[in-house]
Amino acid sequence: LSTQVAIVGAGPAGLVLACALGRVGVDALVLERHPREVVERRPRAGLLEPRVVAYLRSLGLADRLLVEGTRHGWCDFLCRGERLRVDYAAHSGGLRHWVYPQQSLVRDLVAALCGAGRPPLFGRPVTAVPAPATGRPRVECAGLEIDCEYVVGCDGAHGVTGDALPRALSGRGVRRYPYDWLTVLAEVDRPVAGVLYALHEEGFAGLMPRSHHVARLYLQVPAGDDPARWPAPRIHERLRVRLAGVVGELPRIGRVTGTGVLRMRSSIRDHLVSGRLLLAGDAAHVLTPSGAKGMNLAIADAAELAHAFARRYLDGDRQGLAAYAARRLPHVHATQRFSDRLLRLLHLSPRDLHDPPRALALRAAEIRRLTEPGRHATAFARQYVGAGPE
Ligand code: APR
Repeated sequence: LSTQVAIVGAGPAGLVLACALGRVGVDALVLERHPREVVERRPRAGLLEPRVVAYLRSLGLADRLLVEGTRHGWCDFLCRGERLRVDYAAHSGGLRHWVYPQQSLVRDLVAALCGAGRPPLFGRPVTAVPAPATGRPRVECAGLEIDCEYVVGCDGAHGVTGDALPRALSGRGVRRYPYDWLTVLAEVDRPVAGVLYALHEEGFAGLMPRSHHVARLYLQVPAGDDPARWPAPRIHERLRVRLAGVVGELPRIGRVTGTGVLRMRSSIRDHLVSGRLLLAGDAAHVLTPSGAKGMNLAIADAAELAHAFARRYLDGDRQGLAAYAARRLPHVHATQRFSDRLLRLLHLSPRDLHDPPRALALRAAEIRRLTEPGRHATAFARQYVGAGPE
């Protein structure tokens, strides 16, 4: 097989890139290790930034999203029994997220590629990307060899393309946080109206909308904790404690359908390009889920790459590809700074635990500043909704 751009991984980054390249007539082929059903059913993220949706719309990829997605423009912080609403839509001049499950978007993107006659090859784990720094790259994957001009690694946090970077380019900035998040999917009797962040001396708890009957919940747990230690009754009990004061106002949280522990770490590669191999999405940078940035960054990477490939193939101009990392990394670092700031706001530090009531009172004051119109609230709102600086 041969193609101009071989894309490893059918997550949001790889699929959006393939669709965008198809639109401008660049030949691309997506290789995915899992079967289609697995990729289309994996519950992952669910908040899309308006800039990202505008991009998908410009490619004709947002038809179902615009009908079935819902808008979201505020988040609540619960602190010492007080519920504080940050109306980031109001503070950002009307910008709101779209709530649309990642697996639905993935389904739409796969359908678009199939409709265009370029279906991803599912069930094809890529095993090697030999010598990408020199000459024409090749991709080896279960029983197939693909000749191509470029390889884009969109194979997520544990993919193989990153390993193909030469040692000198394999550096990354890694940060480990002193806690983890238990991730919970649970049935709810009505949709979760919006994001809720609860600060508590016992630890953070979060509630996120997903779909009509499903919510995503997070509970701060000690670093390295085991999900097996979190049976459903314990989850419900801790939620009642950490969400005390608002439980009655929230949808009833029912059957737990899935749990896991998310190791809270972030990792950003220093180099995203080596010769004709380029990395995008989680293969390039993994951030914590605070601020719901992962899927949005992955699609923004794909947009940048699609533009660069269009220049390369339509105008013979390689500058866009050469500048890819330099254009994306500042956004990734700025996003990490924002996510970190949010994490610091949501978790008490060991020092705070000497006097939790005082620490929580200070946090409440800080959150209150985000609720009141002003420079502080505007800056937070714009970063939260992914609008960039004013
Ligand atoms: N060969 C082929 N496919 C592979 C291989 C491999 N060796 N290794 C991984 N993959 C596939 C995975 O099965 C997965 O479908 O690559 C895909 C990577 O997809 P994602 O993990 O969704 O990564 P990305 O597209 O970068 O999107 C990441 O989405 O869920 C959000 O916030 C989350 O930041 C995350 C973002």
